[in-house]
Amino acid sequence: MMLRILFHVLILLRIEAALVDRTFLQNAKAKGAVCLDGSPPVYHLDRGSGIGINNWLVHIEGGGWCNNVPSCLVRKNSKQGSSKDMAKQLNFSGILSSESQFNPDFHNWNRIKIRYCDCASFTGDVETATKLYFRGARIFLAVMEELLEKGMKNAENAILSGCSAGGLTSILHCDNYRALIPESAKVKCISDAGYFINAKSIFGASYVEDFYNGVVTTHGATKNLPLSCTSKEKPGLCFFPQNIVQQIQTPLFIINSAYDSWQINNTLVPPLSDPNNT
Ligand SMILES: *[C@@H]1O[C@H](CO)[C@@H](O)[C@H](O)[C@H]1NC(C)=O
Ligand SMILES: *[C@@H]1O[C@H](CO)[C@@H](O)[C@H](O)[C@H]1NC(C)=O
Repeated sequence: MMLRILFHVLILLRIEAALVDRTFLQNAKAKGAVCLDGSPPVYHLDRGSGIGINNWLVHIEGGGWCNNVPSCLVRKNSKQGSSKDMAKQLNFSGILSSESQFNPDFHNWNRIKIRYCDCASFTGDVETATKLYFRGARIFLAVMEELLEKGMKNAENAILSGCSAGGLTSILHCDNYRALIPESAKVKCISDAGYFINAKSIFGASYVEDFYNGVVTTHGATKNLPLSCTSKEKPGLCFFPQNIVQQIQTPLFIINSAYDSWQINNTLVPPLSDPNNT
């Protein structure tokens, strides 16, 4: 009987070990580094141990974008635009897992998941008259400053990764991240499903190009996109990795399906190509 209880306690501990508490960014309001609705951004940090103590893996959550005031107003009240209803704990699995059997390379690194709440891949920074805050770039910097203080300033190895809109963030901010980490450290970036292409839809128009123009304009993102691109191209085009990866100095590893279903649904066959949903 005792053994059985002990067994269940151990199972519970094992499951709970995967759950990582949230941290609200400090001084978010003072720094103007806030989510779309003005709430403070959130990240989850699981500390490294042993030989991983000075290694850092920062992972950025995805969740699409908003490209004008009405669509951002809708997102403001969702998990993509506000920290109000975000989970208190997250289950760290895969590349974030603390278990060596599931995550042999990074299980003992400092692992961080940054929640997405700005809706422009952390590039925005503009004051508006609407009740919306477009402050993604400030969030990125403020979270990084807090992580540097928490030990990332002593990093020996550091990776910036992300998925989908977060994967695009890891491309757009790859060199910025490198610049924040000590020069002696080895720094790399990983983009998982974040390579969005500028393809024409089945009707021949580039809907996604218009969409990104809207994202960049609405969020005042131009000044935070790579200058190597914005000095040559229209700013909206600098949201496409195809126009920026050649200039990135930091090693970048791109993982993307050739049949990315988001891009098939939204770039090749956008919803407006079938307004009656037939
Ligand atoms: C956490 O994720 C792992 C792997 O996906 C899963 O086996 C486990 O049941 C999850 N735990 C909780 C509490 O959700
Ligand atoms: C793309 O559309 C298909 C068919 O409607 C759907 O099953 C799939 O989940 C969609 N994929 C994404 C990433 O939205």
